[in-house]
Amino acid sequence: MKFTYAVGATPIDADEAAGLIPSHISTQSDLNTWEEANILQGAAWAQRQKKRELLKEGFVRDLHKQMFNRTWRWAGTFRASNKNIGVDWAHVSVRLNNLLANTQYQMSHAIFEADELAVRFHHQLVWIHPFPNGNGRHARLLADTLVVRLGRKRFSWGAHSLLTGGVLRQQYLEALRAADIGEYERLLAFARC
Ligand SMILES: Nc1ncnc2c1ncn2[C@@H]1O[C@H](COP(=O)(O)OP(=O)(O)O)[C@@H](O)[C@H]1O
Ligand SMILES: [Mg+2]
Repeated sequence: MKFTYAVGATPIDADEAAGLIPSHISTQSDLNTWEEANILQGAAWAQRQKKRELLKEGFVRDLHKQMFNRTWRWAGTFRASNKNIGVDWAHVSVRLNNLLANTQYQMSHAIFEADELAVRFHHQLVWIHPFPNGNGRHARLLADTLVVRLGRKRFSWGAHSLLTGGVLRQQYLEALRAADIGEYERLLAFARC
């Protein structure tokens, strides 16, 4: 299997590639299709978790697991190596728990309105980059689940797939880079465009 990467995607290393479950997949496009079906199941699972607290490490990991459990053996498992993006792998758990606690505090003290809270959460989660792959899709679905719990509609994130290259993905990445320096307006607008 030869992986090809969209701009801003995290390359998969050899150990991670060995964790691919379906044996018939040989192209990136087959993999994308397979992952998409798996992710739909994960999204349906997330909708059923009405009583579970979202802002817990267990939920964050379980969601990744449900999205990728038929694709990667390491689904739901944190990174054990560094990537071109993300915190040092050894700090993932601490940084994630910090983010979850901060976001819980922001929610209970109504620091931000719902969209801004969820978009900030999305950016900081994808910045931590907890998993070897699937971080963008996982952090978008988690932000959607959060914003729906807060009484809003789910985000549109450009309304088309962001997985392959193209103008929308460029816009999304530019908005994330603005968020990297603390400017959230573009990402907020992109999430609802
Ligand atoms: N400069 C950046 N700041 C924050 N997040 C970024 C940046 N560049 C890329 N990302 C995030 O990383 C994701 C790519 O990581 P990856 O684990 O491959 O996710 P996926 O497989 O779902 O695309 C992008 O979709 C985006 O969410
Ligand atoms: Mg990827």
